[in-house]
Amino acid sequence: PTDAHRTGEGVLSIGGVDVERLAAEHGTPLYVISEADFRARARAFREAFCQAFAPETEVDVFYAGKSFLSTQVVGWVVDEGLCVDTASGGELALALAGGADPARVGLHGNNKSDAEIRRALQAGIGRIIADSLDEVQRIEQLAGELGVTAPVMLRLTPGVHASTHEYIATAHEDQKFGLSLAADVTAETTAETAGSPAERAVALALDSAHIELRGLHCHIGSQIFEPTGFEVAATKLIALLAKIRRDYGVELAELDLGGGHGIAYTEADEPRSPQEIAEALASTVKAACAQHGLSVPRISIEPGRAIVGPAGVTLYRVGVQKDVGVDTPDGDTAVRRYVAVDGGMSDNARGVLYDADYSAVLAGRRVIGEHVLSRVVGKHCESGDIVVRDVYLPAATARGDLLAVPATGAYCHSLSSNYNWLPRPAVVSVSDGVAHTMIRRETEDEMLSRDTGWAR
Ligand code: LLP
Repeated sequence: PTDAHRTGEGVLSIGGVDVERLAAEHGTPLYVISEADFRARARAFREAFCQAFAPETEVDVFYAGKSFLSTQVVGWVVDEGLCVDTASGGELALALAGGADPARVGLHGNNKSDAEIRRALQAGIGRIIADSLDEVQRIEQLAGELGVTAPVMLRLTPGVHASTHEYIATAHEDQKFGLSLAADVTAETTAETAGSPAERAVALALDSAHIELRGLHCHIGSQIFEPTGFEVAATKLIALLAKIRRDYGVELAELDLGGGHGIAYTEADEPRSPQEIAEALASTVKAACAQHGLSVPRISIEPGRAIVGPAGVTLYRVGVQKDVGVDTPDGDTAVRRYVAVDGGMSDNARGVLYDADYSAVLAGRRVIGEHVLSRVVGKHCESGDIVVRDVYLPAATARGDLLAVPATGAYCHSLSSNYNWLPRPAVVSVSDGVAHTMIRRETEDEMLSRDTGWAR
């Protein structure tokens, strides 16, 4: 976080709170989130995108709650003028419990249950992002039964796959999300099945008495550094908006370009700023709309990681250490120190899931002197339980030292588990020297209470 620094004694301080104090009061592992940093990033996205698209249109920034959500975070999001994107009934319940205006909440998911759709409609949420033809039909029916009009966006797969530094245009997306823009490969072409799944969903939604088709949506991937993939996807969706106007005489009001804005996990990562992404995207969108004679639709984006990721740090206590000899590429042997901490893949699954890389610093004291190549590992029964693959830590690192792993605000708590029966850690927010427990640590009793006993 931008408000992290070392105190005179060399202790890391975040949001004006000393990490040794946090660890002593709240235990470890501990997720710490800087409120000021979170708010600044939320504001930066809103301002950058609003300015870049002005005066032609307005922008709504939907914070992607899957990255990390608590009622307090909902409060910050609302305060900063953002909307909330949810991906399940549970996230929706949390957003509403946190006081989000239902009209400024969206619901995603590739396999929404009828109960989730009903709940969203009854709450009066601002948009349901339909992922399939099946879902458009069920939304139509459930809205009819409830006597409401469902505000719907259609999630399309524009055939752009964005990876970290480049984009690859593919003929069709071989993955589970969204309505394809390519012709339906399974259906026999009849009058009813003509066109791509996307076009059929548009026809169905426009024809429905209980659906108000608000616009088109796409999300091209995660941890994206360059604007190009977003621009390619936007251009394709705008071409479809033009086709919809030709075919139906309707100009859809909204275009959502999803999330996926990348962050720096280690020093090797150099993502573009929200402003750079916004400016590139706005000029492409404006030009494409002008080319088709469309007015620029209302734009929305759904960043999660880029807002909460860098705002969060995980604190661990060092336990057992061991040195092993490893071969170097030039035929020498070197020492790698395994530094085990009191958490691991249950509080940060991203290493195991994505080979994700992090960094770590000794947080509780300043050590000057020799550093050794270290691997920070967890306490789980898996050799892949690695938090930080390679990092130089002070040779004097000892049992009981505090380690801080930055950039863990996103997809760490939200992906956490009870593997090996570890209780999930607490999440505290820090601001102006004050720490507040947003989510308290799980207890063994809570975990045990779900085990209903042994039946004979
Ligand atoms: N909108 C939609 C429709 C999404 O599917 C996602 C992420 C987002 C927005 C937010 O993406 P973000 O800006 O946070 O990258 N667990 C993985 C990331 C999975 C993302 C899934 N969808 C990870 O830890 O990297």
